[in-house]
Amino acid sequence: MNVQNLADTARTLVAVDKGLLAMDESNPTCNKRFAKLNIPQTVEARRAYRELIITTPGLGECISGVILYDETIRQQKQDGTLFLKVLADAGIIPGIKVDTGAKDLAAHFGEKITEGLDGLRDRLKEYFQMGARFAKWRAVLTIGESIPSRSCIEANAHALARYAALCQEAGLVPIVEPEVLMDGDHTLDRCRAVTEEVLRTVFNQLNSQRVLLEGMILKPNMVLPGLTCPPHQEVEEEDIGEQQYQVRLADRQPEEEQDVDEVADITVKSLWRTVPAAVPGVAFLSGGQSPELASARLNTMNHRFKSQLPWALAFSFARAIQQPALEIWQGKEANVKAAQQALLHRARCNRAARRGEYSAAMEKL
Ligand code: 13P
Repeated sequence: MNVQNLADTARTLVAVDKGLLAMDESNPTCNKRFAKLNIPQTVEARRAYRELIITTPGLGECISGVILYDETIRQQKQDGTLFLKVLADAGIIPGIKVDTGAKDLAAHFGEKITEGLDGLRDRLKEYFQMGARFAKWRAVLTIGESIPSRSCIEANAHALARYAALCQEAGLVPIVEPEVLMDGDHTLDRCRAVTEEVLRTVFNQLNSQRVLLEGMILKPNMVLPGLTCPPHQEVEEEDIGEQQYQVRLADRQPEEEQDVDEVADITVKSLWRTVPAAVPGVAFLSGGQSPELASARLNTMNHRFKSQLPWALAFSFARAIQQPALEIWQGKEANVKAAQQALLHRARCNRAARRGEYSAAMEKL
């Protein structure tokens, strides 16, 4: 294990004001998102969409690394150039999702365990040889009556730690993603308590598996109330259309501003309590928040706390960066430029959020 290389890569991924773009949706997830917009669910449509993303002019100004999927890392532009070459030319580090998905955890109704450890050492070796320099594994924890159970938290934390150790052995920086889902009617405080328990368990397991904290990135959820927790009402992923964004912005209410402050405070407090200072960066997932709220919340965290934090607070969003672009593209060549502009806009908003300089006015430009 080359400790220096791992630490350098991890620091580069969260350097200054850049962040990660997750485009590692599995084929079924990508197809589901395409189906909602009547985009054909074919290899070619997925390839064309990923080409649109990585050829967005100026993407490298805001994005340090992209997370690819096994299908995508092997793909090429229409002109035959490997996606990996396009990324290298843009100064973007390629990463790869290596878990094989969250499956039902036996004897634990409503809970999941992420699989993918079998054969992982060989797969990591191949991805490193192809040029990947970091990897991602996502565990999902659901909040409900009596869940997540202690055994589900421990099983997922153990798998994350085993994955992380194998990544570092192969020269890849592990992105460790324990996601506490927004689904449910739980309160903000319940999410805080669960998130803290999960993160504490994950770091205990990372330590027992001898993972080098300097050579990893944590990808957690922000601490948020459940989607159906009254009176808080979030917009569901599928309800977020381009026009609705405009409506939401025009209707931005004072309580939404207050919510942003509360979420920022409680999220940072939870991280402070649980994430060791040796970790170079925390790169949040967006989890189904609207793109603007994800940017606003990250911005407030950096604006209020950046100078006091031991780790960088960055982003590793999929939906909160991609969704507006996907809705504009709709699978049509004629919409590629406009979709790329929307993608770059979101990337720039999140770069501003890293500096604590994002404002709602940026959305009106
Ligand atoms: P979202 O930002 O859409 O939550 O996706 C992040 C991710 O990588 C999920 O694994």
